[in-house]
Parts: sequence; structure tokens; C-alpha cells
Amino acid sequence: MKLLDGKLIADQIRTEIALEVKELFLDKGLDPPHLAAVLVGEDPASMTYVAAKEKACSEVGFVSSVYRYPSNISGEKLLEVIDFLNADHEINGFIVQLPLPAHIDEHVIIERIDPLKDVDGFHPVNIGKMVLNLPCFLPATPYGIITLLERYKIETAGKNVVVLGRSHIVGTPVSILLSRKSDPGNATVTLCHSLSQNLTDIAARADILIVAMGKQGFVTADMVKKDAVVVDVGVHRIPSTETKSGFRLKGDVDFERVSRKCSYITPVPGGVGPMTIVSLLQNTLLAAKKNLI
Ligand code: GUN
Repeated sequence: MKLLDGKLIADQIRTEIALEVKELFLDKGLDPPHLAAVLVGEDPASMTYVAAKEKACSEVGFVSSVYRYPSNISGEKLLEVIDFLNADHEINGFIVQLPLPAHIDEHVIIERIDPLKDVDGFHPVNIGKMVLNLPCFLPATPYGIITLLERYKIETAGKNVVVLGRSHIVGTPVSILLSRKSDPGNATVTLCHSLSQNLTDIAARADILIVAMGKQGFVTADMVKKDAVVVDVGVHRIPSTETKSGFRLKGDVDFERVSRKCSYITPVPGGVGPMTIVSLLQNTLLAAKKNLI
């Protein structure tokens, strides 16, 4: 078994991005790319993600800013924030950290984002363009997954890919990306969800198994074909007395047993997570480059 080392690949890509920032912006006296994040409330996981995005920005020489609001902000006020960010010429791209509080309709907020600044790739225009294989911002986690497969030279054409989980952020877009006529892509994709029958049998036929169920340890060794490639998108905080933070991260896959059977596997942490963040940086660089044209 070999690790699909997302941390290593993300480090490499950050070095590549930093070089581009220097050559295309700093050396020419131009402002570096600027990524903004909107954070509503104090969800610990969301705060961790946003902090990680800020750190990643500073590592590649981007400017970053965070717009923080209490969880009782109204939907109307949040739309005003979006309008402000859309109009601010110094901000190349921004994200609204999800989930939002229940009283705010996520779809309404996301539809208000200028698709040219939607570096999360969540706006219906970007999703539509992704389906049609047109230039667009790809959603960060699926983008990170296909980049990881690409950098490890894992062939996807003609392979059986099984995706577990149909979320708008991961399962649905990654299934579209891998079935598109492109490289990576050209796979035969099966998308499984909570109502799928014979899930174990379907998963066990996968050459590449992508797991984004949100259920810790869901995928056991009997669900994995020998020498399959396993990508674990799950992130779960497990209380632990052995770490400073008081928790350990675990995925949707029973790593210990599955790793003995498969050919490649992403660890948690250090697999898909770092790739998601670096993909957001790639989208922000792309947004900033478009402003140069
Ligand atoms: N919440 C969980 N993942 C994501 C992501 O990729 N983008 C945003 N904006 N929120 C998230």
C-alpha cells in the first residue's frame, strides 16, 4: 500500500503558486491575489478551516481577509456583504464558509456571488460550466481529489469509480468530474447514497473508491476490492487525551484494515484536507490572473 500524500503534494503546489505570485504580481509591482472569507457564527470546524485558509494564503504570498458575523445576522444583511465583496476591486475571490445558520438560505446567498469571484465553485453558473466541461472554478475538494490522482499518475480512463455520498460539495461534483470526457476523467462512475441498495457489493467492485459519507469508519475491508485506490474525504473529531487539542481526526474509512488491502489510500489527516485548501488557492490565483488580461 502507498499513501496518497496530500500534504506532500499540497506543499509542492504551494511552492509552485508562490513562484507564480512572485513572477506575475510582485516582480511587476502589482498587488498579489486577495482571497476573502465570510464566516458566520462560531462553529469550531468552520473556524479551523478559515484559519487554515488564512495560513495557506500567507504561505504563498496572497492577501487574505476574513469578514466575521454573529450567527444571528439576517439573510438580507449577508446579501449586502456579498454585494460589497462582489464590488470590491481589491478582492479577487471570496468564499462563504458553510454551513450557514438554519435561518439563512444557502442557495440564495451563493447565487448572489459574482461567478467570476466564486472561487469555491458553488454558484450554479460554475457548476453548469463544470458539467459542460467549460472553463470555470472547480469546487475545491473535488478539484483536490482529481489533482491528487493526477499527480500520482493514477489512471482513471475506463476504470470503475464508486463515489459514496452525493453532497453538493463533494460527491455530486466529483462524480461529474470523473465521468467527463477529460483527463483525469473518462471513468465509469457509480454514485451511491443513503437509499442505495447492495452498497457493499457496489463498493467492492470499485477500482477507485471515493468516500464522502460523513460516517466515521463506515468503509470496512470487505467493501474494498484488493488493490483498489481509496480516497477518504471524511473528517471526524474524536476526543483524545493524547493530543494537545483534545481530539484526533479520523476518516470515513477504517484505515488500519483497509490500508492492508488497497494499493493506494489517502490518510486522515494529511490526505484530501490539504488538497482542498491548496485547490482554493489555485482558484484564487486563476481569478487574479483573469484580472490581468
Ligand atoms: N464547508 C465545508 N467545506 C467547505 C468548502 O469547501 N467551502 C465552504 N465555503 N464551506 C465549506
